[in-house]
Amino acid sequence: MTDQMTIEKVLDAANIVDVVSQFVTLRRRGVNYVGLCPFHNEKTPSFYVSPSKGICKCFSCGKGGNVIHFIMEHEQLQYYKAVEWLADKYGIPYSRRELTPEEKLRQDERESLLVVNEFARNWFQNTLLNTEAGRAIGMPYFRKRGFRDDIIEKFQLGYSPERGSALADAALAKGYRREYLLTTGLCYERDDKSLRDRFHGRVIFPVHSVSGKVIAFGGRIMTSEAKVAKYVNSPESPIYRKSNELYGLFFAKQAIVRKDRCFLVEGYADVISMHQAGVENVVASSGTSLTSGQIRLIHRFTSNITVLYDGDKAGIKASIRGIDMLLEEGMNVKVLLLPDGEDPDSFSRSRSASEFQDYLDTHQVDFIRFKVQLLMEEAAGDPIRRASLIRDMTTSISVIPDQIVRAVYLRECSQIMEMDERMLINEVNRLQRERAAAQPKQKAAVPDTIVPDTVASDAGTSDAGTDSTVTAEPAPADKDPVEELRSQIRALLRSDRADIVNKEKMLTRLIVRYGERVCCYTPYQDEEEYPMKVGEYILAAMQNDGLSFCHPVYSRIASLYSEHYREEGFVSERYFLSHPDSVVSLTAANLIEDRYQLSDIYKDLRGMKEDEDLLGTTSHIITDYQLSVVRYEIKQVESKMQRGDSDSFMELQKEYSELLSARNTLAKKLGDRVVT
Ligand code: CTP
Ligand code: MN
Repeated sequence: MTDQMTIEKVLDAANIVDVVSQFVTLRRRGVNYVGLCPFHNEKTPSFYVSPSKGICKCFSCGKGGNVIHFIMEHEQLQYYKAVEWLADKYGIPYSRRELTPEEKLRQDERESLLVVNEFARNWFQNTLLNTEAGRAIGMPYFRKRGFRDDIIEKFQLGYSPERGSALADAALAKGYRREYLLTTGLCYERDDKSLRDRFHGRVIFPVHSVSGKVIAFGGRIMTSEAKVAKYVNSPESPIYRKSNELYGLFFAKQAIVRKDRCFLVEGYADVISMHQAGVENVVASSGTSLTSGQIRLIHRFTSNITVLYDGDKAGIKASIRGIDMLLEEGMNVKVLLLPDGEDPDSFSRSRSASEFQDYLDTHQVDFIRFKVQLLMEEAAGDPIRRASLIRDMTTSISVIPDQIVRAVYLRECSQIMEMDERMLINEVNRLQRERAAAQPKQKAAVPDTIVPDTVASDAGTSDAGTDSTVTAEPAPADKDPVEELRSQIRALLRSDRADIVNKEKMLTRLIVRYGERVCCYTPYQDEEEYPMKVGEYILAAMQNDGLSFCHPVYSRIASLYSEHYREEGFVSERYFLSHPDSVVSLTAANLIEDRYQLSDIYKDLRGMKEDEDLLGTTSHIITDYQLSVVRYEIKQVESKMQRGDSDSFMELQKEYSELLSARNTLAKKLGDRVVT
């Protein structure tokens, strides 16, 4: 585990302008820098970098944070991986978490397997580029397929020569263990125990994990002999679970995030040709049907997927079944039909990049609409087919987790199919009940797609980047704690307590920004003139009223503060920005932004510098917070009284009038405190 010391060192060493400049062209504007946001498509710059605060932020899409969060988002890394990325760059030594002996063994094996694969990748590449056989056989094949040199290099394509043990010999001579050549599947054993190269006589497509490690290979035969399999692939191994990987994701992930869409194709060649045509947000399922693990992998980067189909009807019918799974995982699915006889590979090469892009832009259609139209054509005038069409459509719609999306589709299908909407709704409800009964323990709800993410953006970006090549266990994608936290916060913000949470945010902001600053000298804890810090003041006031934050992250920040503020040299901003929990540090970064200058929020404080009158500002916000709490309680009591609980009515009345008078006192206090 990276410790806070390392994080602090990284934050000290890494100049955010330097780091961001590697990926974004920045221009100076006043004390800040601006550029085009790397996280969404835009034409006018809204991405700000503040060198003095060490944070960046897109004012359009809301992404940003400190330099670690930037790298997390940009490189799609986990928090610790992002810290290590920066530590490596700035030459800061760090230690990794101690592993248990078992983990260590597994880790060692995995690392050894990855090392062997890396060796093989280099060897295949070198054979392609620098040996006679490679240049005479492998290269002409790729050239014939129209692959450009830069693309051959980018995808690290290679060639394995005809001679059946060339790789094995080279690897053993270099000291790589036989055992690892077998476990990776690079070689297999013949009856006489000699090693044979699995991919000999084939061109090589390395398969990368989401973080870019080579975990497997595909080898394609260069002729069209019907007797031999066109592709040979690495077998499953401790570093390669076929159902949890997608070809091309490593090269696509940034583009997927930027475009907020992922194209799904079938094969290696499709991915490569589309890259060559400038479409980089594309992954391949490698000819098999998608698994839910693969879908979740995509879902980490986007909720929008477009499935590309060759234009042949039989193929389409077979594969649309698989799409229900995408719907089930809460993805928004579109399909794109290519002209008859074309696959993405041939099609993208037969036109210019911009023509191809145009085609993609204009021919995507919503999946449900596509499916109902396709089936309607078939069912025309055939009542039995029509019945099965209805079943088909309602099944697809019933797996969609979002109720509103379901409702929209039901309406639309009822119109296209000229069916009574009620009947379709009943059918969908029935199917859902059936499924619920069949598997009582349904998966945790998929993220609610209609809630805009910005609402809960304070919870931070997802830390779900479990790197399949490093963690020993497969990612338990079912329960992403950050996603759970987010939905908790979303719910809170939609509830009656939204106003309270807003005030909590302002208080938390003061704790993060000025936590260590003394705001007054007051009798406290046996001292006549106790120098009371801003954060202490806030927490004492809350404790006095028996209040605590309901927002889970603010509450965490408050308790971290009270644990640590007494420590020698504690500086709140620094402490929270470098906190090992990325949700905490990202929330802190968001709170530090200038956008939340209190003078903008409080008109009556305008003109007053908050850090010149910390006590005034703090007590004002505390009062405001108390007022929100009282207003909330008043509402609660009102609805209790409306429900007419006669037993306690007298008590309620009493409570109610106390609350009203508290509200008036607080409101008056707030009103009195116009600019001092
Ligand atoms: N595939 C495989 N084994 C086969 C055939 C196909 O593993 N015998 C997988 C490969 O991952 C391939 C994908 O299925 O990329 C799609 O198959 P296909 O469309 O036939 O392959 P392409 O990638 O289009 O290859 P090519 O254009 O070179 O024929
Ligand atoms: Mn093909």
